[in-house]
Amino acid sequence: MTDRYAVLGNPIGHSKSPLIHSLFAQATGQDISYTAIETPLDRFNETVLGFRAGGGLGLNVSLPFKLQAFEIATEPSERARLAGAANCLKFDGERILADNFDGVGLVNDLQNNLGCLLAGKRVLLLGAGGATRGALLPIAAQRPALLAVANRTADKAHALQRDFAAHAQLNSGGFDDLAGQAFDVVINATSTGLTQEPLPLPAGVFAPGAIAYEMVYGKGLTPFLRQAQSTGVSTVADGVGMLVEQAAEAFAWWRGVRPESGPVIQRLTVPLD
Ligand code: ATR
Repeated sequence: MTDRYAVLGNPIGHSKSPLIHSLFAQATGQDISYTAIETPLDRFNETVLGFRAGGGLGLNVSLPFKLQAFEIATEPSERARLAGAANCLKFDGERILADNFDGVGLVNDLQNNLGCLLAGKRVLLLGAGGATRGALLPIAAQRPALLAVANRTADKAHALQRDFAAHAQLNSGGFDDLAGQAFDVVINATSTGLTQEPLPLPAGVFAPGAIAYEMVYGKGLTPFLRQAQSTGVSTVADGVGMLVEQAAEAFAWWRGVRPESGPVIQRLTVPLD
């Protein structure tokens, strides 16, 4: 019998997850179906429980439901608990297991696909919302020399520093506090990749040889990536690899088989120009 999975979101029409998982299933010979379900904003729990009652085995959860996905879980992973958000659910009888693969997807993309090992690097995350929360622990686990969070609203970055104090040593502040500092890896985890707004980054934030990484995918050269290029950064990347790598983690968690991510990333990549 075909095992059923889906992604929930609102809106969800743009989601590449059904394509990614069907490519993984073909490549690994797994008999699954994977659909996208546009979920009414006030019906997240009913949709999850209805999908499970219909025999569904697992769900990916997209915006704006990642906090609710964490809340509905009976057994969240530690990284989901710290992020306060989950992007993946697995059903096992009455148990609802939750994990958050966004951060590990980002780290795998940086390290395995882009050749950027984080150990000993100076890493800067821009933004202090859910995307940053999900990324912090997996990045810290690689032992960067420095891990900093800068946010438009500095207080939110300070709050993150406090929340993660037992698990990761962070620097936090506003964009102004970045003056005079240079980083090897600069990751845009704000929503400006979607809104195409520029960020007020001080000159010199990119160290020589730095990589600039935009978490959003498929938007071409965003203002952040353009800004990086204009200051001489030659390695710029969007989040297509992160998207596919988090999907590979979910697939392996659900199916016990690890798909190859490279061919799927190649297929989904939109040139950055
Ligand atoms: P997500 O879950 O995608 O991280 P979020 O929790 O709404 O979304 O967080 C959005 C992030 O983008 C926040 O860090 C936000 O900064 P504030 O905390 O100051 O609101 C950041 N952001 C959104 N628009 C921005 C802009 N025009 N310039 C700088 N940062 C922006």
